[in-house]
Amino acid sequence: MASTDQKPLLSVLRGDRRDPPPVWMMRQAGRHLPEYLELRGRAKSFMDFCFTPSLAAEATLQPIRRYDMDGAILFADILLILDAMGRSVRFEAGVGPIIDAIDGASDLADVPVATVTERLSPVFETVRRVKGDLPETTTLIGFAGSPWTVLLYAIEGRGKTDRARAKTWAYQDEAGMDAALGHLVEATAHYLHGQAEAGADALMLFDSWAEGLSVSQFHQLIIAPTRSLVARLRELGVTVPIIGFPRGAGAMLPAYVAETGVDATGLDTSAVPDFVNNALPAGFPVQGHLDPLALMAGGGRLDAEVDRLLAAYAGRPHIFNLGHGVLPQTPIAHVEAVLRRLREG
Ligand code: CP3
Repeated sequence: MASTDQKPLLSVLRGDRRDPPPVWMMRQAGRHLPEYLELRGRAKSFMDFCFTPSLAAEATLQPIRRYDMDGAILFADILLILDAMGRSVRFEAGVGPIIDAIDGASDLADVPVATVTERLSPVFETVRRVKGDLPETTTLIGFAGSPWTVLLYAIEGRGKTDRARAKTWAYQDEAGMDAALGHLVEATAHYLHGQAEAGADALMLFDSWAEGLSVSQFHQLIIAPTRSLVARLRELGVTVPIIGFPRGAGAMLPAYVAETGVDATGLDTSAVPDFVNNALPAGFPVQGHLDPLALMAGGGRLDAEVDRLLAAYAGRPHIFNLGHGVLPQTPIAHVEAVLRRLREG
């Protein structure tokens, strides 16, 4: 059993306030680290890298060794589950992910859930390996993509689209859309259950494409499936805290927090602190939300942004993080400067 006393980040997820707040950064493992680039060169593809526990465990641990972050994010990708569901995924340099797109909800039911989790078992092995090597004070965060964000990639077949195909489908065929989301809820619940069983101290749901939806679609595509997923996880016996990250939710954030059952919410770069503090229940933990470009820029303005966030969330449980992932060109010295400012004042 993970002790919240020993793990500051976990204690904040349980509702404690900490000064300074615990910190980790989305995409803290990745291309801004020379040691990651070296390691990444050893696998023939990004997918192979993610499915090789020795490499994925090492990538998870690299930012912990270098920065002593309070949270270690499992090294994997939100698209692995689609590959395990029979929709082959590959990453092409300069293009991003390319997925064998689905034509209908039934395409996501081809592979039984037990086979999906079996195919994802290398990820569970990565969790076990990392768990064995982490300092007692570090919280290990497992994750998955939220049903809508993953489904969007399955429908569109790639990233960087206008998302029109998926959104139009959701308007035209509500029952089919609900069925597709339902298949992802079930597979994702078992996937995250496996990560928790393997030793993840907390779980995070990345809903990177929660932005730009109409109110009715936000309810259908973000809130309803997330609520089902959280409920299914609890039914399966998962007790660890769950962080939701509905990127770009804006004014829908309070409904998301009130209705999904998540224990904490990630905030994106554009979140407005006064709005968040007024609209979310007192004591509800938040995570975020330094602009990754402020981190890239560095200097006095970066210090000021850090101070502004610390002041904004001093009154509630807060985990310091970025509003989106670390960008590849980010200088290591800037990450170090943020950590010094947080820890030494
Ligand atoms: O440090 C970490 O955050 C750990 C691991 C992690 C990765 N991806 C590794 C990765 C996590 C948590 C993710 C989540 C993820 N993956 C999201 C949600 C968060 C977000 O960024 O909005 C999404 C949308 C994906 C899908 C994905 N993966 C895309 C669109 C791309 C290509 C774009 C890019 O940045 O290259 C990836 C690739 C990817 N996932 C990389 C890493 C380190 C870069 C691949 C490489 O090393 O070449």
